[in-house]
Amino acid sequence: MKHTRSAELYRRALELLPGGVSSPVRAMRAIGRDPIFMARGEGGELEDVDGNRYVDWVCSWGPLIAGHCHPAVLAAIADASANGTSFGAPTVGEVELAAEIAARMEAVEMVRLTSSGTEASMTALRMARAATGRERVLKFAGAYHGHVDGLLAQAGSGLATHALPSSPGVPAALTAATVVVPWNDPAAVVAASEHYELAAILAEPIPANMGLVPADAGFLELLRKQADITGAVLVLDEVISGFRVARGGAQQRTGVVGDLVVMGKIVGGGLPVGAVGGHRRLMETLAPAGDVYQAGTLSGNPLATAAGLATLGLLDDDAYRRLATTTQRLADGLVEAAAGYPVWIESLPGLLTVFFSEHPVRNLDDCQACDLEAHAAWSRCLLDHGVYLPPSQFEAWFPSLAHTEAQLELTVDAARQAFDSLKR
Ligand SMILES: Cc1ncc(COP(=O)(O)O)c(C=O)c1O
Repeated sequence: MKHTRSAELYRRALELLPGGVSSPVRAMRAIGRDPIFMARGEGGELEDVDGNRYVDWVCSWGPLIAGHCHPAVLAAIADASANGTSFGAPTVGEVELAAEIAARMEAVEMVRLTSSGTEASMTALRMARAATGRERVLKFAGAYHGHVDGLLAQAGSGLATHALPSSPGVPAALTAATVVVPWNDPAAVVAASEHYELAAILAEPIPANMGLVPADAGFLELLRKQADITGAVLVLDEVISGFRVARGGAQQRTGVVGDLVVMGKIVGGGLPVGAVGGHRRLMETLAPAGDVYQAGTLSGNPLATAAGLATLGLLDDDAYRRLATTTQRLADGLVEAAAGYPVWIESLPGLLTVFFSEHPVRNLDDCQACDLEAHAAWSRCLLDHGVYLPPSQFEAWFPSLAHTEAQLELTVDAARQAFDSLKR
């Protein structure tokens, strides 16, 4: 594969964009290569600026559950844009999207739309603090909830990828209000929630930002119980899992329901959206119904709500069955391709991670103990064979409804060759 134009663009980008990218993981530094500039997508496939084609398992990091350029989503955006791109006034799309979210998510009676998951996390914490009159929040090591100052403590995704325990520029006073405990450690949750007066317990119910690391049996139930006992608000971040692992997200799958739910990605159908939802009692603390301030020039943008509604409209029971089948076949194919090479493959419908570990992976320490060099070499080999996968083990693959049999086969073949080259 030639990457002449990508290389040229990257050189220019390095002069104009810090690190040459608009978001860190895209730079591919964790797998020791330069980023690839993309030109277009179609279904489960991407084409770069040099004309190389790839099976795309990133799918924009989650929003594109229907794949690239789904005709219904493109038509909805085109129809909406014909009426104008933004009004800064209420629109029908916001009401319809909120109704659709509330119909799917048990915890949600009302919704505030934002332009990103980061803003939705920020808003949820502000509401939890206002409602409880407390400041401290508990989060888990390896969980990522966007680049909110106070939550950049042992965060996953780009921070784990680049081994940044936190970020310079974050006031110590802000992370001091964040208590971090290991994922899947019940004793640590009980101790922290009894020792500190917590405003919120914040969790990805299906963490996917240190790679995919589901909760052990009973762990989410424990979070619910500790929140109830201590009066903390349980905030479940479903930015990745929402509308992906089931119609009603992780909460439907696990039966553990939050007080507030943070959403993003799929609800915007590939355009910038986030959302926070919950019970009326908490949601009506937000201005102008209440006095907790939150706002956004482009919040509830009509193009984004149209794309989100069109995407959710595709997600019926049959779609979830197909997504589960595609993911299972990918997981089975990768296990077969590994042929004894020591990897631990974790998957749930619509999500998958290949951990370079002999053992099950249950928390951030386990993820960091993996053979990241082997993961990097394997990933570079897959890219060379036309498979675009998350360029870090601290992320999840995003199977979509658009991935085909042929794309699955190509991926498994490429994986087999990559494992074979590692064995050599
Ligand atoms: C679980 C989770 N929460 C929040 C965010 C932040 O969302 P955004 O990137 O839209 O700000 C992300 C982003 O990947 C995420 O995975």
